[in-house]
Amino acid sequence: MPAKKSSLPTVENPVGVFDSGVGGLSVLREIRRELPGEHLLYVADSAHAPYGDKPAELIEARAIAIIEFLVSQRVKAIVVACNTATGVAIQMLRAKFSLPIIAMEPAVKPAVTHTKSGVIAVLATSRTIASDNFAKLHERFGANVKILMQACPGLVEQVEAGDLSGKKTRSLIEQYIAPLLAQGADTLVLGCTHYPFLAALIREIAGPEVAIIDPSAAIARELRRRLESTGLLSTGTHTGTEQFWSSAQSDTTRAVISQLWQADVDLLYLPHVPAIPSD
Ligand code: DGL
Repeated sequence: MPAKKSSLPTVENPVGVFDSGVGGLSVLREIRRELPGEHLLYVADSAHAPYGDKPAELIEARAIAIIEFLVSQRVKAIVVACNTATGVAIQMLRAKFSLPIIAMEPAVKPAVTHTKSGVIAVLATSRTIASDNFAKLHERFGANVKILMQACPGLVEQVEAGDLSGKKTRSLIEQYIAPLLAQGADTLVLGCTHYPFLAALIREIAGPEVAIIDPSAAIARELRRRLESTGLLSTGTHTGTEQFWSSAQSDTTRAVISQLWQADVDLLYLPHVPAIPSD
């Protein structure tokens, strides 16, 4: 009789990464760069995007459902590649699940170190800006620099539609950034994982003197540290794979994920969980 498979994660189990939609792919690509051998499962909760204007209870319930799904796929760690879900639910998620959970943190610290004008600005969803985590960041770093908070409604929807440089996207960014520059901001923090896909346009509009700070690479390094310290870092020499899931059965989601991932991807529908092979 074959030995019973242990349910404990092993080093070759995948890492689960999720977001309200396609934004977390900006974190996934940094994880892929940092950890080329890890298998990665990505969930886009596209049926519920954007989270930024949804009640906290819904975001919490979705985060629990997605993590439970990822755990059923035997992930060894989770990356919450969503600032909004992090702001609303991270304490609850860490209390509820015992596997390592890495979450987003707007890169206020590096921005404070970088600014010369003494004014930085964080671009994020309204819900992230209203979160307690954010208030704490402000308390911690706001003493010596001026931290401007800019909610950017509409930008997530533009990225979800794959519109990274069209007229409407440009005009929204101009509208959000102009007052920040007028107040002397020389450093912009991307506090939503959708926004790195707009970085080229933001740079064009803000000008070359303004620094744009994206925390994704730091999150990927943090994942590496957590996997190392828990003995879960992949030791194989193989190339890692990616699997993409979405809660929306939509051709647009598949097309936009392929556009942002720069490869033609297959998209699996979230409720249709395939049987786990019993080897
Ligand atoms: N990518 C998300 C974030 O980092 C999502 C925002 C949303 O769905 O509103 O906040």
